[in-house]
Amino acid sequence: MSSYPLRVAQKIQEASDCASLWFDVPVDLRSAFDHRPGQFVAVSGEIAGESVTRQYSLSSSPSDARGFRITVKKIPGGRMSTWLVDEVRPGDIVDVATPRGVFFKPLDEPHRVLVFACGSGIAPVLPIARKLLTDGRGHRVVLNYGSRTADEIILKDEVDELGRDYASCHVEHVLSRADGPWSGARGRIDADYLAERSAHWETEDLPAVVYLCGPEAFMDAAERYFLARGLSQSAIRRESFDLVLTDNDDEPSLVIAGSEDAGELSETCVEIVANVGGEEARVVPEPGESILAALIRGDAPVPYSCQEGTCSSCISKLKQGTANVRQAVLKSLRQDDIDEGLVLACLATPASKRILIDFDDI
Ligand SMILES: Cc1cc2nc3c(=O)[nH]c(=O)nc-3n(C[C@H](O)[C@H](O)[C@H](O)COP(=O)(O)OP(=O)(O)OC[C@H]3O[C@@H](n4cnc5c(N)ncnc54)[C@H](O)[C@@H]3O)c2cc1C
Ligand code: FES
Repeated sequence: MSSYPLRVAQKIQEASDCASLWFDVPVDLRSAFDHRPGQFVAVSGEIAGESVTRQYSLSSSPSDARGFRITVKKIPGGRMSTWLVDEVRPGDIVDVATPRGVFFKPLDEPHRVLVFACGSGIAPVLPIARKLLTDGRGHRVVLNYGSRTADEIILKDEVDELGRDYASCHVEHVLSRADGPWSGARGRIDADYLAERSAHWETEDLPAVVYLCGPEAFMDAAERYFLARGLSQSAIRRESFDLVLTDNDDEPSLVIAGSEDAGELSETCVEIVANVGGEEARVVPEPGESILAALIRGDAPVPYSCQEGTCSSCISKLKQGTANVRQAVLKSLRQDDIDEGLVLACLATPASKRILIDFDDI
């Protein structure tokens, strides 16, 4: 995996349990850290003698000349989030891998884009909303942002700026535990909230796309709500920070063909070729081994972390051949992603004689 030691240029306390870290990107690494809105990086550190890696969305805009920013909310007892929020200081060097992820899908035609975020879920959707409002295509953006209290609203100035600066953007903050004077919306962004607000969105003419980022239960409820109202699953994009897969996510496998060629189907795969970091890696998989596991065994420098389909680091494009991919992939990727050949390599096992998979072209 392409990981680089980067200097923390600035740290900003966003709330008592949340901090943003700006990273300097040296000139020779700028193209490696080029990114799209909504992408994330993997951050690694030695914490209490153990090497820990976690993913953090880039909360800055790709065009920001200062470098890039992550915004981290401390999880009680969480190793990496506590280290980043409480211990890392400006000037410290932290290992950061190059950006990955396919949360954002550019839209050529004007759309009404409904964005729902809770807590640190604002990190990837803020640059997405900004991109949609500035791409000149005439999208209308509704940004609904849930926090517990007014003090816990992360990146509030930047969120409010979007509502102020763009007539085509409407911002609503929703507080679940407003603890002082608050004239805005109260409660949670749940099915009742969506039903109450939808009269406005559903009478609009443009096609709708929904972005969701926050706790799984919140995203599941919102997805069910919009599916029941006729939106296709591909129009509902979600980014999971705390995904836990269950046995129900296991069966049956999806059969996914390469975007260029499905290849010759076979129970025995004789070779996996992977494009990664501009190089080509080759490995012969063992029976039943995932594509990722085979490549790790072959020392290919593939990006990965959880190896169980929850961190999205191993996202890659199956170009040639066919793979059986665990159903759980649909928790992170949508059908239109899969139609483009995108897979999570840790959930995919070869179902053809040869596999060509690309970790760079995502
Ligand atoms: C693609 C992606 C993007 C992400 N972007 C961000 C981001 O922008 N900002 C951010 O703050 N976090 C983000 N996360 C979550 C982050 O990667 C870590 O999972 C989180 O910081 C907790 O790590 P930890 O080492 O502190 O906790 P751990 O030591 O791993 O876990 C401690 C306990 O907390 C639970 N836990 C772990 N993660 C969560 C969670 N997110 N919510 C609730 N409970 C949890 C664990 O099950 C465990 O019981 C993202 C995750 C992914 C996969
Ligand atoms: S390694 Fe985490 S999703 Fe594959």
